[in-house]
Amino acid sequence: MTTDATPGLALPVVDAELADRLRDRLAVVEEALAEHVRGSADFITEAAGHLMSAGGKRFRPLLVLLAAETGPHADSEQVRTAACVVELTHLASLYHDDVMDEAALRRGADSANARWDNHVAILTGDFLFSRSSELTADLGPDAVRIQARTFSRLVQGQVLETVKPAPGQDPLEHYLDVVAGKTGSLIATSARYGAMFGGAPAEVVEALTAYGELVGSAFQLSDDILDIASESVESGKTPGTDLREGVPTLPVLLALRSADPADARLHELLGQDLSDDAAHAETLALLRAHPAMDQARAYVKNQAQDAKQLLVALPEGPVRDALEAFADVVAVRSA
Ligand code: IPE
Ligand code: IPE
Ligand code: MG
Ligand code: MG
Repeated sequence: MTTDATPGLALPVVDAELADRLRDRLAVVEEALAEHVRGSADFITEAAGHLMSAGGKRFRPLLVLLAAETGPHADSEQVRTAACVVELTHLASLYHDDVMDEAALRRGADSANARWDNHVAILTGDFLFSRSSELTADLGPDAVRIQARTFSRLVQGQVLETVKPAPGQDPLEHYLDVVAGKTGSLIATSARYGAMFGGAPAEVVEALTAYGELVGSAFQLSDDILDIASESVESGKTPGTDLREGVPTLPVLLALRSADPADARLHELLGQDLSDDAAHAETLALLRAHPAMDQARAYVKNQAQDAKQLLVALPEGPVRDALEAFADVVAVRSA
C-alpha cells in the first residue's frame, strides 16, 4: 500500500508492540484462510485458492484485529474467526465482481473469469460465501444476522451500480449509496466484529461501526480515483475499467457538473460508449488532467477526517492512533 507501511501490514502502526501483535495474529488468520478455501476436489481448491494466493492487502481482517484491541479479548479465537469471515466474504465478492465488470486482472493475476470462465468464477464465489457463512455460525446468531445484513447491503450496492439513479435522484447521491452498500457495509462490519468479539463497551462498538462505514466508503472512493489515475503495475488491476464498463464514479460525476466550455469534448465522450480503445484512452487522459480529480481527493480526505472524529469515543493510546492512521492511509492512497 504505502512504502512506509509496517512490513507485512497494510497500515503504518506507530507502536512497535501493537504492530508485532497484529502481524502475529494476521499470520495465524492467513493459515486458517488457506484451510478454509479447501474444497472437496483439487479443482475447487485450486479455483478458490487462486485469488487468495495471488495477493491482496488483507485490509478487512486487519481492521477486525485492530478494532479488537479496544477490548480485553483481542487475542480470542472468535476474533480470528471473524477476521476469516470478512476476508472470505470479500474474496467471494471479488470473484463475482470481476464477472460483472468483465475484468481480466485481479491482485496482479488473471481474474478467475479470465483464467477459467464465468461459470467457474460465479460458483467459486458462491462456494466462498458458503464457507464464510459456515464459519459465521461458530460466532452465534447475532453475528449471523449481522453477516446476512452486510451481505444483503453489499449485493444490493452491486446491483444498484448496474442501474441508473431513481427518477429525481441526484446521480452523486445514487453513487454514494452504491459505494456505502458495496464496500462501506463490509468494512463497517469488520470494525464492528472486531470490537464486539474483542469485548469492547457498547459505545465503542457503535463508534467503530460508524467509523468503519465512513472509512470503507472512503476506501472505495479512493479506489475509484485510482482506477482513473493509476497504472496497472501499482494496482494489480486494469486501469480505466469503470469507464469502459460505463460506471460513473466520483471524478466523472464531478467533471460532469462543470459548466466550463473547455469540458465540452470530455462531456461528449462521457456520454458515449467507451469500449472503443481510442475513445477510452482520450477520456482517460482528459480526466486525469481534470480539476475534478483533486476535488474528488479532497472529498475523500474530508470523509476520512469525519471518520477520525468518531474515534473520540475511544481511550487515547496506540490503538486509537493506529485507527487514525488507518483512516489516513485510505485518504492518501489516491493522492
Ligand atoms: C477491492 O478491495 C475492491 C474494493 C472494495 C475497492 P481491496 O482493495 O481491499 O482488494 P484486495 O483484497 O487488497 O485485493
Ligand atoms: C468492488 O467494486 C466492490 C466489491 C467487490 C463488492 P469495484 O468493481 O469498484 O472494485 P475493483 O476496482 O474491481 O476492485
Ligand atoms: Mg470491479
Ligand atoms: Mg465492480
